[in-house]
Amino acid sequence: MLSLAHLGALLLLLSCVHTAAAASIFDRRAGSCRNQPGDPGFPAQSEWDRLNAQVGGRLIPAYPTAKVCASVHCTPAQWASSIYRATLPGAMNRNNWEQDYSGSGSLCLLNSTGCGQGNVPIWAINATTPAHLQAGVKFAAKHNLRVAIKASGHDFLGRSTAKNSLLLWTQYFKNITFEDNFRIGNKNYGSTVTVGSGVGLKALYGAAKDQGKIFVGGTAATVAAAGGYSQGAGHSAFSPVLGLATDNAVQYNIVTANGDYLAVNEFSHPDLFWAVRGGGAGSWGVIVSVTTKVFDIFSATIHQTTVQTNTSVQSGKVMAAHARHIFDLDDIRAGQYFYLAASRTNGSLSLSTLAANISGAALKARMAPFLDEVRALGAVVTPEITITATPNDIIANADFAIESDDVSGRNVIMGSRLIQATAYQGNVDSIGDAVTKILDHGIPGFYGHMVCGGKVAENANISSAVTPKWRTAKAHVLISQAWADSTPPPIVEQIRHNFTYQSMPLLINITGETDSGSYSSEADVLEPNFQTTFFGPNYARLSAIKAVYDPNDLFIVGAGVGSEKWDAAGMCRK
Ligand SMILES: Cc1cc2nc3c(=O)[nH]c(=O)nc-3n(C[C@H](O)[C@H](O)[C@H](O)COP(=O)(O)OP(=O)(O)OC[C@H]3O[C@@H](n4cnc5c(N)ncnc54)[C@H](O)[C@@H]3O)c2cc1C
Ligand SMILES: *[C@@H]1O[C@H](CO)[C@@H](O)[C@H](O)[C@H]1NC(C)=O
Ligand SMILES: *[C@@H]1O[C@H](CO)[C@@H](O)[C@H](O)[C@H]1NC(C)=O
Ligand SMILES: *[C@@H]1O[C@H](CO)[C@@H](O)[C@H](O)[C@H]1NC(C)=O
Ligand SMILES: *[C@@H]1O[C@H](CO)[C@@H](O)[C@H](O)[C@H]1NC(C)=O
Ligand SMILES: *[C@@H]1O[C@H](CO)[C@@H](O)[C@H](O)[C@H]1NC(C)=O
Ligand SMILES: *[C@@H]1O[C@H](CO)[C@@H](O)[C@H](O)[C@H]1NC(C)=O
Ligand SMILES: *[C@@H]1O[C@H](CO)[C@@H](O)[C@H](O)[C@H]1NC(C)=O
Ligand SMILES: *[C@@H]1O[C@H](CO)[C@@H](O)[C@H](O)[C@H]1NC(C)=O
Ligand SMILES: *[C@@H]1O[C@H](CO)[C@@H](O)[C@H](O)[C@H]1NC(C)=O
Repeated sequence: MLSLAHLGALLLLLSCVHTAAAASIFDRRAGSCRNQPGDPGFPAQSEWDRLNAQVGGRLIPAYPTAKVCASVHCTPAQWASSIYRATLPGAMNRNNWEQDYSGSGSLCLLNSTGCGQGNVPIWAINATTPAHLQAGVKFAAKHNLRVAIKASGHDFLGRSTAKNSLLLWTQYFKNITFEDNFRIGNKNYGSTVTVGSGVGLKALYGAAKDQGKIFVGGTAATVAAAGGYSQGAGHSAFSPVLGLATDNAVQYNIVTANGDYLAVNEFSHPDLFWAVRGGGAGSWGVIVSVTTKVFDIFSATIHQTTVQTNTSVQSGKVMAAHARHIFDLDDIRAGQYFYLAASRTNGSLSLSTLAANISGAALKARMAPFLDEVRALGAVVTPEITITATPNDIIANADFAIESDDVSGRNVIMGSRLIQATAYQGNVDSIGDAVTKILDHGIPGFYGHMVCGGKVAENANISSAVTPKWRTAKAHVLISQAWADSTPPPIVEQIRHNFTYQSMPLLINITGETDSGSYSSEADVLEPNFQTTFFGPNYARLSAIKAVYDPNDLFIVGAGVGSEKWDAAGMCRK
């Protein structure tokens, strides 16, 4: 069918077919591109002014962080601070996502002389009411614009920024409301918190502690509890006790692509409620707030130590021992973060193990069989530390220093896999060998999060879009890749390609699966088969629900539902 828009484009082509510019416009229209500056359909300044009036003067330009830093002389500490970056509409925490490395590149780097806008949005709505977001969504739909949604800018896949876009910025939705008996219709969900999509985890840990409560939150300062965290799955060191963040979400207040502001729960728009819980960040609408269950605070203990090694082979043996003991803590439902920073010649495995209702001495005793085995391998175990406190303080209090700010400002990508419990029940020496190979390949580290099993497994019957791989997993493991600002854009493109196609296969090998899964919020945006890897058997239903709530793909993010129909920039349909 020939729509009016197509007819218009055709007439435009016929009237000026001799100019190359018009031909390129036609090509882009024929391929259904969104409007960008210079396109006839891009809003005139007067139209932006009208939008600005509609949102109470909250339409502001977005700039790359390095450009802001050059003009306000920001300090190196600010450059590296997620708390500082959260105040900047254009900032991403990993600076690479602000850059456009394609072609000869459009970059804006720290202390550089020239500055391109890169992948930073043009305009941002600094929203504080749902009406601001509704105005932005309707404006973007009317003018066929690319939109981006951002809360904190933490995204590891760069999904909260987009070149030539209008940013819907939710950092200043700061409400936090606790209720003892949250009801939807006649159903009472008990104790909950309703949290705005700009509230960072650290702030929420503090507010919850004041109420004697804990929620399922991650180990980060400014990651938004109601932003990407909750839509991806949301893991916590206490997930083995309390489940995933999405398992505990009871309602989302969300602005959808047609501009409606909906309360989405198990009774109202249950299909969207199913999708937003695990169906991937940024694909469903703009979240204003989430209501999530909270739990009475308990006593928790953190145990920390590091294991020093001399060679990549020894590091691999230590990781094989770790794998052999990975079920040791199951009955106490402990969570653990392990991070092996290592090379061919040396390594340091940091371990933070967290458990509820246990003393420091008892947790040390539970760690002993593993630590004894690594000592026997010749590795050196540094003195063990334990702290007993509230889970809120252990995760978020600067005194205990897991996270008081999140280190930002570097160029980093990552990739991940959910390792199934069955992989650890077989020959764990192959896991150690795989880690040695990863280190020998030049990857500087191997991260693991033991944030599954226990309640995460027991919650398998909850109807949500969380990939079933989460329910049978024993660990979520990651590798990352960094580069210096001085790396030329074509080399950055090679590094990214090689990470996906040379490094990631070494990690994937550990799963022993051909259809292995990955956590979509801590992952590689270039993941080749993202539909299966991130969403497993849920992808077809997610696509169908997206067609209902976002039929024109207003909300497209890299490796998100529907993104296969768009180019990498989300600008033109394939
Ligand atoms: C230091 C650090 C620690 C982390 N720790 C954990 C952890 O312990 N557990 C865990 O599960 N994850 C963790 N993560 C990963 C984290 O969950 C993801 O980075 C997540 O995407 C961040 O969400 P955000 O909204 O804060 O970030 P943003 O970059 O603002 O957004 C991320 C994604 O969510 C979308 N989004 C943001 N706001 C909204 C909104 N209001 N409505 C709709 N979509 C929105 C964006 O479009 C984008 O797709 C960590 C990340 C970092 C950087
Ligand atoms: C950038 O400039 C600041 C001073 O403005 C300086 O402190 C900092 O070291 C510089 N950083 C780099 C990477 O050159
Ligand atoms: C965004 O709005 C908040 C709340 O009104 C305000 O404090 C902040 O300064 C604004 N930020 C920018 C960059 O305009
Ligand atoms: C935040 O709380 C205030 C005070 O209760 C309320 O007026 C406002 O509507 C809330 N904002 C949102 C976005 O829910
Ligand atoms: C590494 O090697 C040195 C020198 O041989 C030795 O003193 C040290 O104990 C070794 N460290 C580990 C962790 O094996
Ligand atoms: C560990 O290896 C790295 C990379 O090879 C090297 O830079 C560092 O100095 C080494 N550290 C120690 C303590 O040997
Ligand atoms: C901790 O112990 C208390 C008292 O026995 C119990 O009520 C609570 O459920 C336990 N919490 C967890 C997370 O195990
Ligand atoms: C995967 O692991 C197996 C078993 O350790 C090994 O034989 C194989 O070479 C590995 N493949 C890759 C690509 O590393
Ligand atoms: C899921 O199973 C548990 C028992 O393991 C049960 O208590 C719970 O009610 C079930 N939940 C749903 C949503 O079916
Ligand atoms: C990427 O891999 C190719 C093929 O192995 C290699 O030639 C190239 O140097 C690599 N590029 C980078 C930047 O590592």
